[in-house]
Amino acid sequence: MTVEGIGNRTHGYHEIQSRLAKFNGTQCGYCTPGWVMNMYSIYESNNKKLNSTQIENSFAGNLCRCTGYRPIADAFKTFAKDADERLLHKLADLEDLAILKPCGVKCNKKCPHKKKDESVLLGKLNYSNQETKETISEDDWCFLEKGNNKMIVIDCGTNKWFKAYTLVDVFKAIGRCSDYKFIAGNTGQGVFHVTNYPRTVIDIFNVAELKGHSIDVNLILGAGMPLSEMMELFLKLSNENADFSYLKGFHEHMDLVAHVPVRNIGTIGGNLYMKYTTNDFQSDLFLLFESVGATLTIAEAPNKMKSVTMLEFLKINMKNKIIVNIMLPPLSSCCSFKSYKIMPRSQ
Ligand SMILES: Cc1cc2nc3c(=O)[nH]c(=O)nc-3n(C[C@H](O)[C@H](O)[C@H](O)COP(=O)(O)OP(=O)(O)OC[C@H]3O[C@@H](n4cnc5c(N)ncnc54)[C@H](O)[C@@H]3O)c2cc1C
Ligand code: FES
Repeated sequence: MTVEGIGNRTHGYHEIQSRLAKFNGTQCGYCTPGWVMNMYSIYESNNKKLNSTQIENSFAGNLCRCTGYRPIADAFKTFAKDADERLLHKLADLEDLAILKPCGVKCNKKCPHKKKDESVLLGKLNYSNQETKETISEDDWCFLEKGNNKMIVIDCGTNKWFKAYTLVDVFKAIGRCSDYKFIAGNTGQGVFHVTNYPRTVIDIFNVAELKGHSIDVNLILGAGMPLSEMMELFLKLSNENADFSYLKGFHEHMDLVAHVPVRNIGTIGGNLYMKYTTNDFQSDLFLLFESVGATLTIAEAPNKMKSVTMLEFLKINMKNKIIVNIMLPPLSSCCSFKSYKIMPRSQ
């Protein structure tokens, strides 16, 4: 999905694009696609039910050097359930500006547009503009392989791309090459930029065994779990299960790690493996997990797994191996967890 895909000049702009323009939230335009796509993804993934704080907290990863952030924030906050009435009035006025055509007669302050039902104008998310596309259905997406979880192989001769769905796929792909690289969310690129890829890349983002969580005595988190999902789980469990009340502290700490778009696709396994390859990478996850004595499950074949401590993990040979899950132990409620993060700015 691209910024042109959600709305464009030929077929009409999406409401997010229109409102950003109406609030003068774009100047040189360099940053605009990023703002629009970020807003679009949080808007859609929250079923269009957002509040102003959620919107404000989701933009730590976007920078604008031209317009200042106020018009951008104002435009997007008009999509919030709790949007400020003044912003919605401003939106209504801006919409009126777009449809008023000068009649050339001195204004008698009885403009017919004023009769518009204010409740419709202030209908927040139900607000609709016929000139723009408001919703995008599933039909607008292009699915490469919908519902078919067979490993995809793109073979370009010397270079190969595998999209694995199971651990069996992963080890099959490894067995077909001498050198490979796993890719999960691929956000590691933002920390350590890789320009030379090996000939084989194995996409493990959808490997079933790396997804989800379970609780036996420990809390077992799939290594392919995105950080946002992990945070939600931490918050929920810390409220429901006294053995894991310490996860509230983990959640607060994680709220200062990276930013929402990175956390939405960046995975636990990816973060830990970056610590494995680059020892001075300041991995917050490694620190949190080590502080409670977590252990990792490493697979060297689909049915051959081994459990290691966080410190042992840093020393083992990971060639032809994959991190499958992380086990966090229950802690008695007399344990107290506190962490601090030192950083130049909190967003
Ligand atoms: C802007 C930004 C800010 C960040 N801030 C912080 C921060 O404050 N604190 C912090 O701790 N981190 C931070 N990070 C790091 C972030 O948490 C990681 O980039 C993310 O978790 C990596 O996950 P991924 O799925 O994208 O990994 P990828 O980029 O896909 O992979 C990273 C590496 O891990 C390997 N890998 C991935 N999954 C597995 C697996 N299951 N088994 C074995 N190898 C695997 C890949 O081969 C690759 O070498 C930041 C990142 C960015 C981009
Ligand atoms: S509009 Fe120019 S950088 Fe944002």
